[in-house]
Amino acid sequence: MLEKDIERILVTEQEIKDICKRLGKQITEDYKHVDKPILLGLLKGCVPFMSDLAKEIDLKIEIEYMDVSSYHGNITSSGDVKIRKDMNTSVAGRDILIAEDIVDTGKTIDTIIKLLKHRGAKSVEVVTLLDKPEGRIIPFEPKYVGVTIPKAFVLGYGLDYDELYRNLPYVGILKQEIYKK
Ligand code: PRP
Repeated sequence: MLEKDIERILVTEQEIKDICKRLGKQITEDYKHVDKPILLGLLKGCVPFMSDLAKEIDLKIEIEYMDVSSYHGNITSSGDVKIRKDMNTSVAGRDILIAEDIVDTGKTIDTIIKLLKHRGAKSVEVVTLLDKPEGRIIPFEPKYVGVTIPKAFVLGYGLDYDELYRNLPYVGILKQEIYKK
């Protein structure tokens, strides 16, 4: 049903599994001496990735979420990053690892990193499934990247078009005619 709307698959289910294993292992190694790091997911896009990644991190971590949006269902960023729901814990003195589905213009991550540092976080790093460096407006390099992708509008595995397709188990490109409907 959903697959008929997809032009092509960019990152397969198996590739996503392998990415989560690789990044989970790396994060476990890098954070093994850190006291209870916080894995902070930016809703809604982070959900499938954060869930699969967290299972590959073999450490005591806390899990938090913030609901942040700038695309508001469109295919281009409004540039206006809104916090719809804040996290529940104080970040002062804490080590934060932000989990993202994608870093594109960099506006979302830039806004949130500045906010967390302003609140006194000890360290802030980013793990993202997808990195789209060609989309960058604000220079930023995530510490942990699943895969670098070209400048195309992608969806699935958390990423939406008009709030739909988040439940695809892979990342793909939507057929042109779907946008025009
Ligand atoms: C998407 C995605 C990232 C952000 C990346 O969120 O989940 O948070 O855009 O884009 P940027 O680098 O250009 O800022 P969106 O605003 O679509 O909200 P959602 O996660 O609820 O879909």
